Amino acid sequence: KTGVTLVSMETAGMWQQVGFLADAFAQFKKHGLSIDLVSTSEMNVTVSLDPAANALEQETLTALVADLSGLCQARIIGPCASVSLVGRNVRSVLPRLGPVLEVFEDKKIHLLSQAASDLNLSFVVDEGQAERLVRRLHELLFSDGAEDPRLGPTWKELEAGPAPSPPPGRTAWWRAERNALLALCEERSPRYVYHGASLDLAVEDLRRIEAVDRFFFAVKANYHPGVLKRFHDSGLGFECVSPGELDHVFGLFPGLDPQRVLFTPNFAPRSEYELALSRGVHVTVDNLHPLEAWPELFENREILLRLDPGQGRGHHAHVKTAGARSKFGISWDQLDSLTGLIERAGARIEGLHAHTGSGIRTSHNWRETALYLAEAAERFPGASILDLGGGLGVVERPGQRALDLDAVNESLALFREAYPRFSLWLEPGRFLVARAGALLARVTQIKHKGDRTFVGVETGMNSLIRPALYGAWHQIVNLTRLDEPPTQVADIVGPICESGDVLGNSRRIAPAQEGDVLLVATGGAYGYAMSSRYNLREPAEEVLL
Ligand code: LLP
Repeated sequence: KTGVTLVSMETAGMWQQVGFLADAFAQFKKHGLSIDLVSTSEMNVTVSLDPAANALEQETLTALVADLSGLCQARIIGPCASVSLVGRNVRSVLPRLGPVLEVFEDKKIHLLSQAASDLNLSFVVDEGQAERLVRRLHELLFSDGAEDPRLGPTWKELEAGPAPSPPPGRTAWWRAERNALLALCEERSPRYVYHGASLDLAVEDLRRIEAVDRFFFAVKANYHPGVLKRFHDSGLGFECVSPGELDHVFGLFPGLDPQRVLFTPNFAPRSEYELALSRGVHVTVDNLHPLEAWPELFENREILLRLDPGQGRGHHAHVKTAGARSKFGISWDQLDSLTGLIERAGARIEGLHAHTGSGIRTSHNWRETALYLAEAAERFPGASILDLGGGLGVVERPGQRALDLDAVNESLALFREAYPRFSLWLEPGRFLVARAGALLARVTQIKHKGDRTFVGVETGMNSLIRPALYGAWHQIVNLTRLDEPPTQVADIVGPICESGDVLGNSRRIAPAQEGDVLLVATGGAYGYAMSSRYNLREPAEEVLL
């Protein structure tokens, strides 16, 4: 409910005083204002005024505050929105709400009210924050049943019309390649399959962001040699975070110009900076420690500085890489010490860097980063590069709106007009590989227990840990029976000895039989790259189509 106004009434005098509420509420009655939610403490009473029940004129509110001022300090807060969870025994969800409320650490929840009937739990937040809260609540409370036919698009989504459909050639490649994929699984399974043409299309899409001068592929997302070769041949650079990744790219491309490589480590030992500097790649420093403790390494060297823009974004708390609690980047209040250290070390700052997080589909994210870095760059006159990080998200589940690349481009083009001094870099991982990859695994067993059905496949979190680690949602289809109606609702699980070994909960698939091949989509990023031999089960092998 939007358009909600709060009235906060504060006074030490209300404590243990008989009749404070009666006197205060009499003022609301006098002005014909109906109160909706109430929250009380020893020295404050805050109430909400429901726009549906009140014609809220500014003069009425001003008069109310004036009348209340004899009793307490009154303050109007708004515009707010109240977000309500409605259901029987609704308080029982409270223990599950922690992760949602975490998002509100830095924003205010003005009021929380639980209905005496236990049918309603309401949060009042700034109007601009309501959408975010609703989304998080939906993800947390309903994501398991995402394919439940009772949960359609939201009212907002219906009003906005259908999400823009992908341009031709960008629809799921695996539908067209089904026979080839099934044939591959005849040879061997489980398998990660990457679709070369889709990798090329992703590069083409990325280049629509013409305001960006250089792109570096974040190798951590997928280091398959065939994938890297395609990106190398299309002129991308590489972002590496470890000596292992550096060795890997230089091993594959011995003649690679080191200026096409970025080294962006975090809490790395001294020896790794030495190694990267000796290779001649671009090096990013994201803490004062290296400059304080090993200034001699950086003498006469050009480096980039990774700053913390203060506000992280991303698909999960684990992948938000900015903000006071994140271990990444140098904060604004350290800039003074930083300039001193750089001078002492005799280093030159070629550019500034920031990466807010991963899986972002908000188009203004990179412009905000650019503006932050441009302001910081006033202290570094030699800095000519702004590296805006990666983080470009892709659509993973139905109903999600795609990142609007044209909007990203336009916002960065405007930035460039205002700040022609800088060249802009991006270092995306997921965007280039996620959609081009899929995990294929055969069904091993089917189990019915209580009201649940489990469809077991030959590999699980040892190949794809994202659902277990982030609650990530990957589309799952029965590739063997792609043309049959998806009438079975099942939890798709692997063979690993943990209950978290789930690839998807409550998924609607064509009824599975032992030996069927299931396909787990958008598996090209952070899939094989994060796999393990847990339980001594080898993860799925990779193949490039
Ligand atoms: N640059 C830096 C400094 C990064 O830390 C990362 C990712 C990237 C670029 C690339 O971000 P991308 O464009 O792929 O979002 N394992 C998680 C993602 C972790 C991302 C870590 N850093 C997942 O599976 O979602």
